[in-house]
Amino acid sequence: MRLLSVNIDHIATLRQARRENFPDPVQAATLAELGGADGITVHLRQDQRHINFRDVRLLRQTIKTELTVEAAPVTSTVNFLRRIKPAQVTLVPEVVTEITTTKGLDVIKQKRALQRIVASLKRSGVRVCIFVEPDPDQIKSAAEIGAQVVELNTDLYSKDLGRRDLQLRRLKIAAEAARTSGLTVHVGHGLNYSNVVPILEENIAQGFSIGFAIIARAVFVGLKEAVFEMKRIIQEVRT
Ligand code: PXP
Repeated sequence: MRLLSVNIDHIATLRQARRENFPDPVQAATLAELGGADGITVHLRQDQRHINFRDVRLLRQTIKTELTVEAAPVTSTVNFLRRIKPAQVTLVPEVVTEITTTKGLDVIKQKRALQRIVASLKRSGVRVCIFVEPDPDQIKSAAEIGAQVVELNTDLYSKDLGRRDLQLRRLKIAAEAARTSGLTVHVGHGLNYSNVVPILEENIAQGFSIGFAIIARAVFVGLKEAVFEMKRIIQEVRT
């Protein structure tokens, strides 16, 4: 069973562009669910530049599917999320000046600190995913510190058009390493309506975290339809 979690950060980005109270990501989540989303994802950045605490609280109370919150492994955010208890927290590295997340978390480098954070989230009943590069060593470390899911970073795959086959092979090897370590495999970053197809054909992942391409298409066809189209691809492409 393949699952699509729709990242709605950019609804909040649009709201914040005018410091208005619309468009509301809570409303967007409902429409995404009507379009067939299996989950809703938001990135709660420390500077709350798009999604804020209010959004996360309301989404937790209102959505009917699974809420995933992407967050940096910092104590204040983690403590907030332990109280909110989304279905999943995806730990990501965060650089204040970046436009979007670009790299996976370096699990090997911060193994001890991350292990404590993973354990505390799990004690609160939250499933923990770590966003990593498709690197078997990082994946092994993620399993060792107790993560249940890894999200493989598809940023390079989506950009390195001249070496797409190589990047796809890297993802495939990484996914096999993750499954061998007992981890569930998700993918995300830079995926769109066409580049997701080879990943589906290779049966690399069970979970798909997709935002920008869907929100961009929604401007022309509406959010429900944009989600519906992506969901259909994810369900129908055969391996
Ligand atoms: N996964 C992670 C960890 C991300 O940070 C993002 C972007 O917020 C996504 C998936 C979704 O990426 P995109 O918006 O390019 O689909």
